[in-house]
Amino acid sequence: MNEQSNTSVSAVPVSAQSLRSLRIKHTRIAQVMSELDTLIYPGSQDSILLVCGPTGVGKSTLALQLVQMALAGASAQMEANAGLIPAVYVQAPASGENDFSWTSFYQRILDQLTGDLDLPKVAYGVDANTGRAVWPRGASRNTLAALRTAVERGLRERGTRFLVIDEAAHIIRQTRRNRLEIQLDTLKSLANECGTQMVLIGSYDLYQLVSLSGQLARRTHVLHFERYRQDQDADLRAFRACVLKFQAALPELWGDQLLPHAEVLQENTLGCVGTLSSVLMRAAMLAQQTGGWSVDALQRALLTDAQRQRILEEILEGEAAINAGLTRHVLKAPASRSRVQKRGIA
Ligand SMILES: Nc1ncnc2c1ncn2[C@@H]1O[C@H](COP(=O)(O)OP(=O)(O)OP(=O)(O)O)[C@@H](O)[C@H]1O
Ligand SMILES: [Mg+2]
Repeated sequence: MNEQSNTSVSAVPVSAQSLRSLRIKHTRIAQVMSELDTLIYPGSQDSILLVCGPTGVGKSTLALQLVQMALAGASAQMEANAGLIPAVYVQAPASGENDFSWTSFYQRILDQLTGDLDLPKVAYGVDANTGRAVWPRGASRNTLAALRTAVERGLRERGTRFLVIDEAAHIIRQTRRNRLEIQLDTLKSLANECGTQMVLIGSYDLYQLVSLSGQLARRTHVLHFERYRQDQDADLRAFRACVLKFQAALPELWGDQLLPHAEVLQENTLGCVGTLSSVLMRAAMLAQQTGGWSVDALQRALLTDAQRQRILEEILEGEAAINAGLTRHVLKAPASRSRVQKRGIA
């Protein structure tokens, strides 16, 4: 990008904020959503699904869309039964230096389950007048066991099919290796008790933690939310299509002058649509501040080499681990006697 900052299209009457609300249903997000949609169903044995991908690929966006789509898909049932919440999104609280706080995690789930909606009027502690959850007399709301029971009941009574846990690495990050399995067992038992599938979302560090244990590896199904690679034609086209969508979202600002930079943008953002969004958001703000679009504004919005390098290292390490972990040897049909004989005849 060597051009000078003189390609002003116009002053910017619109707010760059309009980029913020843009949600592109791009190829990769559609693929991962469709795989999740296939694997989430009542009675599934995949109680824990793990979605891993690079930082800024759009994992949280995918997680929220997945939940929104499930809610939209169940709108008729929800109208008939106001207590129904088929899908819930929570962020695992950061654990800092200490052990993961199950208490605040359960509390966050409960906040989603109780909300302002009418709860189904069941005997487990819902005030029939206010519709809000109440805890059984004697049991403290704050004990872990009481919270866990409330969460189990809530998920069951709300008919929650799946719970999306974003930033799921927080659950196991500070955990000693021999306790990792206990942490995931806790989730698994929650899933089994309530018939609610757990969808864990995180960067590659989540995968690396889970892959530390064979037992955990066996219990979880892993989906890879990949970036768009520069060495794949289909990926180049898909990323370009995203840039085009961003361009079309703010024509007053960049006219048709964004698309020619698609390749540079893919290289700089490492093919991650979320990072692309952040770069373009910055570019739009800088352009607005200086009175109009310029290549210079875009240039200044790019990731620095040091930032890009750090992210690239994480990605390469993560991809190497996950791709090795996801390699599946092709089944070869055992050569039966009759087939061997037939081949011999042919
Ligand atoms: N499909 C998309 N269309 C438009 N904007 C997107 C899309 N996906 C992500 N973004 C935007 O990019 C930004 C980063 O995305 P997101 O937070 O989903 O990434 P992430 O993979 O969860 O990142 P992190 O690893 O840091 O948690 C968000 O502001 C989001 O609005
Ligand atoms: Mg995120």
